Formats: sequence, structure tokens, C-alpha cells
Amino acid sequence: MKKRVAVIGAGPSGLAQLRAFQSAAAKGAEIPEIVCFEKQANWGGLWNYSWRTGLDQYGEPVHGSMYRYLWSNGPKEGLEFADYSFEEHFGKQIASYPPRAVLFDYIEGRVKKAGVRPWIRFENVVRLVEWDAATQKFTVTVQDLAKDHCYSEVFDNVIVASGHFSTPNVPEFQGFDRFNGRIVHAHDFRDAREFAGKDVLLVGTSYSAEDIGSQCWKYGAKSVTNTYRSAPMGFKWPENWEEKPNMQKVDGNIVTFGDGSTKKIDAIILCTGYKHHFPFLPDDLRLKTANRLATADLYKGVAFVHNPALFYIGMQDQWFTFNMFDAQAWWARDVILGRIALPQSKDEMIADVTDRVAREDAGADAHDAIQYQGDYVKELIAETDYPSFDVDGACEIFFQWKDHKKEDVMGFRNNSYRSVITGTMAPRHHTPWKDALDDTMESYLEN
Ligand SMILES: Cc1cc2nc3c(=O)[nH]c(=O)nc-3n(C[C@H](O)[C@H](O)[C@H](O)COP(=O)(O)OP(=O)(O)OC[C@H]3O[C@@H](n4cnc5c(N)ncnc54)[C@H](O)[C@@H]3O)c2cc1C
Ligand SMILES: NC(=O)c1ccc[n+]([C@@H]2O[C@H](COP(=O)([O-])OP(=O)(O)OC[C@H]3O[C@@H](n4cnc5c(N)ncnc54)[C@H](OP(=O)(O)O)[C@@H]3O)[C@@H](O)[C@H]2O)c1
Repeated sequence: MKKRVAVIGAGPSGLAQLRAFQSAAAKGAEIPEIVCFEKQANWGGLWNYSWRTGLDQYGEPVHGSMYRYLWSNGPKEGLEFADYSFEEHFGKQIASYPPRAVLFDYIEGRVKKAGVRPWIRFENVVRLVEWDAATQKFTVTVQDLAKDHCYSEVFDNVIVASGHFSTPNVPEFQGFDRFNGRIVHAHDFRDAREFAGKDVLLVGTSYSAEDIGSQCWKYGAKSVTNTYRSAPMGFKWPENWEEKPNMQKVDGNIVTFGDGSTKKIDAIILCTGYKHHFPFLPDDLRLKTANRLATADLYKGVAFVHNPALFYIGMQDQWFTFNMFDAQAWWARDVILGRIALPQSKDEMIADVTDRVAREDAGADAHDAIQYQGDYVKELIAETDYPSFDVDGACEIFFQWKDHKKEDVMGFRNNSYRSVITGTMAPRHHTPWKDALDDTMESYLEN
């Protein structure tokens, strides 16, 4: 009997896995039967924009956390697929910080070319994965949402690629139950125009706080305030943006901050991050990890140490994204194809995790973190036939990106970088980001 492999999720990580297997088949390898379960009606994961929030038409939690007018927050040269360049997809080099629709088109282009869509069962949500030690196989129970039908199938391997920026982490602050305005988590934020003319408060100091605050500022918020628990972001903000120590309480519309100061606020957006959440996995198979570069319990960041027939793709915090998912997917594929041998003992795999955690913890700053993840990508790529590329060059681009943000947080997206895949320089975008209100693909590609 042919081996069967289940892939859960058809976002960038799951699609990387499908492309990895397809590329081996294209080179003549015999590959297992691959079945990808995707709960949404289309592929692309978070990049498949949905206006919906809360529950969807089937009563399922809406996966999407992306919003209108979202542009890439890092240079596209840091995430370019080594086997499918932006120039191949668009027929020309494009500017460095594409809006969501442009990146969705790029992700889709590679898998359309690979012809893997028939491997995906859309609107099929995985409800439960169980391991049978006697047969050494998984039973995957799925609900076909459109047909309202549940069924189970048996697989040799399961690859979890369900993402980890979808289930919000929602703290509560004193007085929230009596706040006279809207309180929303970043996961449910969709359109910055809703906050035009308002005094908006963002809780948090990471990418969501920075970018959603920037969106609100760009689309006409009266003022933006963000609170910090650990340290302020410290960028050179526009004059109607201030950073305050963590919120102490809310009284009506008046927020009191950690330094005792107060401010009238119309809306609160909790940019407090996400949880790794796998409601379809029992205790023996479920990854429990913080959002960090060296995850708990994953050998090489991919194989689950407690049951290495199970793999997780894309569960790390992310400087590198699409190309790192590729590196992981090619590596998981090669383990399944028997090209890479796993260590004999669980202890060896746990030692690998411990070493990764220690090396991440030894880093001092974002520079070290970027290099750490770049080295990880290099390590995995060296073990497979994923096309080698200049990962250090990509790290260098991330370092420049950090500097550009320090110089001008509302203008960093106006910079261009050289592709590490094709060697060509990106053109400068025709309109500065803060003035570019039209984020359609047509408008972006006018360069
Ligand atoms: C607001 C926001 C902006 C971002 N912007 C950028 C950016 O600019 N650049 C960048 O490189 N990265 C960005 N990211 C990071 C993002 O994590 C990656 O780009 C990428 O989407 C991760 O891919 P993934 O496939 O691992 O997860 P996801 O994109 O989350 O895809 C997971 C898929 O699994 C499916 N799924 C989940 N559970 C089930 C189930 N039980 N059964 C079946 N299917 C299931 C989901 O429907 C989804 O399609 C952003 C993240 C967020 C939240
Ligand atoms: N345009 C874009 O491309 C874009 C936009 C948004 C998000 N993203 C992506 O989305 C991912 C998630 O980013 P994120 O910013 O949502 O999450 P995150 O990086 O996990 O950051 C969470 C933030 O919330 C704070 N926080 C958590 N719990 C808190 C509490 N109880 N009280 C106060 N503060 C609390 C954290 O503070 P501490 O630092 O103190 O822990 C941190 O500042 C990233 O990969 C990012 O790149 C991309």
C-alpha cells in the first residue's frame, strides 16, 4: 500500500509542503498520496483575506487576522521563494513591500504552476488526530463543512501547518466591562477607516501595534497612543502618536497609564499577540510552546520529539517566513521519503531542542535573532535539494530594514533592496507608503 500523508492547512506552510512533494515527483521520485485539509474555501492561509470576524458561515472561528490595506511589514527580498522568483511570477521586478493582494497572487502563482490544487480538500476542517501505537498510524477525523458530513481516514504521517497567528491572546484590564467604546483584538481589526477622527489606543509594542497604529494614523485617526508592558518601541513617531507605560485602568472613556497620566480614548485595539492553538490535537500530539525562534519539542524545529511521524511547519516566531517554511517542508518531505534519517533515540532529539533554545537565549538583540534564524534556514536547506540561495544576503536585507525603520517608521516601506534570488534591484515604488491609499495589485504593479 502506498504511504498516505495528511497536511493540515493550505496556508504558505501547507502549500510549501505540497510544492516540496510535487517537486520530488517532478524529478521522478515516487511520492506518497498527499491529502491536504483546508477549512477555508481557498488557499493562502492568512493571506486569503476575509471581511468576516468572529464565526464564519459554518460557525467555525474565522482564521483570518489580516486587514484591508495591509502591506508586507518586511522586505519581500527576505521571503522570496528560491524556486519561484518575483520576476518569474510578475514578469518583471517589483517594489519591495507589496500589499497583501500582491503577495497572495505570488503565493498562488507557484502552486498553480505546480498543479497541486487537486490535492486539497477545501472547506474540510480537521476535528481530531489520533495515534494508534499498535498500527503506527494516525486516524484523522474531518468535517466536510459544505456537505455537513464527518468522516475519518488513516495516514502514515501528519503534517500540522495550521498557523499560529489566528487565535488571539486577550488580556483584560480593569474597567473594560464599562468602557464606553469599542474594544477589539488585532485578530478582528479589518478597516482603519473605522477609526478616522478617533483617539485610538493600542495595547502592545510588536508588529501588530506598530502596523495597525500606522494604518489608523494613515487613514486619519485623530491620535494614536500605544502602551508598553516591557519597553517602548522608541520610533520617531508622528506628533499625534505617543507611547505610554501599560494601562492601569479604564473609567468610562478615561484611561489611566502606568505613569499616572490619563487620556480620553474612543477605541482600544488589543495588539497582544496570539496563541498556539490546536483544538484538533490530543495531549500526546499537541505542541505546547511559546512564540519563539526555538520552539519546544520540535527536532530541527519540525519533527515532534514525542512522535516523529508527526511534523509541524511554521510554528516558530518569524523573521524568515515563506523561504523558511520551504526549508522545513523540503526537510520533512525527505524524512518521510527516507532520504533523511532521524536520530535513533528521543533523548538525542530532545538534546537538539535544548541546544537550539540555549543558542537562541544566548543572542542579545534582534540582529542576533535574525542571524540565528538565517543560520537555521541554511542548516535545513543544506540537507535537501531545495535551491541554495544567499541566506546571509537575506539577513543583511533584514538588518537594513531594521535601520530604515529606525530612520523613518512611516517611510521605511519606500526603500528598495536587491533580490538574493535573481540579483536584480527592486524599483522604488511610485508613491510613498503614507500617501498610497490604493492598495490594489493593479496600482502596485504600475511601476
Ligand atoms: C496580521 C498579520 C500580518 C502578517 N504579515 C506578514 C508579512 O507582511 N510578511 C510575512 O512574511 N509574514 C507575515 N505574517 C506572518 C504569517 O504568519 C505568514 O506570512 C504565513 O501566513 C504563515 O503561514 P502558515 O501557513 O504557517 O499559517 P496560516 O497563514 O495561518 O495558514 C494556516 C491555514 O491552516 C488552516 N487551518 C487551520 N486549522 C485548520 C483545521 N483544523 N483544519 C483545516 N485547516 C485548518 C487555516 O484555514 C489556514 O488556511 C503576518 C501575520 C499576521 C497575523
Ligand atoms: N503588516 C504586517 O506585515 C503585519 C502586521 C501585523 C502583524 N504582523 C505579524 O503578526 C505576527 C504577530 O505579531 P503581534 O504583534 O500580533 O504579536 P507579538 O509579536 O506576539 O506581540 C505581542 C505584544 O503584546 C504584548 N502583550 C502580550 N500580552 C500582554 C498583556 N497581558 N499586557 C500588555 N501587553 C501584552 C507583548 O508585550 P511584551 O513585549 O511585554 O511581551 C507584545 O508587545 C508577527 O509575525 C508579525 O510580523 C505583520
